[in-house]
Amino acid sequence: MRIHKPVRPVGMAEIRREFMEQEPETKTLVFSRDLIRERVREIAKAVSEQFTGKEPVFIGILNGAVFFFGDLVRELTIPCRIDFIRAASYGAGTVSSGEIRFTKDIEIDIAGEPVIVVEDIIDTGRTLKRILRHVEKKGADPIHVCVLIDKRERREEEVPIDYSGFRVDRGFLVGYGLDCNERFRHLPDIYALD
Ligand code: IMP
Ligand code: MG
Repeated sequence: MRIHKPVRPVGMAEIRREFMEQEPETKTLVFSRDLIRERVREIAKAVSEQFTGKEPVFIGILNGAVFFFGDLVRELTIPCRIDFIRAASYGAGTVSSGEIRFTKDIEIDIAGEPVIVVEDIIDTGRTLKRILRHVEKKGADPIHVCVLIDKRERREEEVPIDYSGFRVDRGFLVGYGLDCNERFRHLPDIYALD
């Protein structure tokens, strides 16, 4: 067996420097990785308490929820199953069109199962509304919603949110899974872009 030498680790500071060096005046740190970690632990504790004695199915919405989802389920103190769904929104831009199609569907049979849908950020609410309808059609019961960030200013659809990490009024956020045209998802902290 060949053992490969580990590559030189790239420090977080280096990753952040590369990001910040391009037009630094347009970027503001909003939620640090420490703050995110603390909040994720609190949410995991609350979910674990609420679902004690049950084994819910956690459904992560790809790609944005990937890190939040991974961190959240690893902090749980209850058993669970995990699955993912990926929705593609028609049209581009920074406001979702609301018309979506599923490019990856849930594979676990969730009929009659307690489900927690995990999303990175809710803005107009259109995406989550469509996904919840889809999960409902599959017979999940009850359905809970967990979002890392609740962005309120442009809400159009009423979506019941059971757990939310942070509330912001406005702004476009990147990092910790959140992207701008698929970039910046890998950043460990969350920034606002101008
Ligand atoms: P909604 O359908 O308007 O609620 O938009 C939700 C989706 O838009 C999320 O799943 C995100 O992918 C994306 N989104 C909304 N606001 C932001 C943001 O500030 N940064 C990155 N993505 C966002
Ligand atoms: Mg997105």
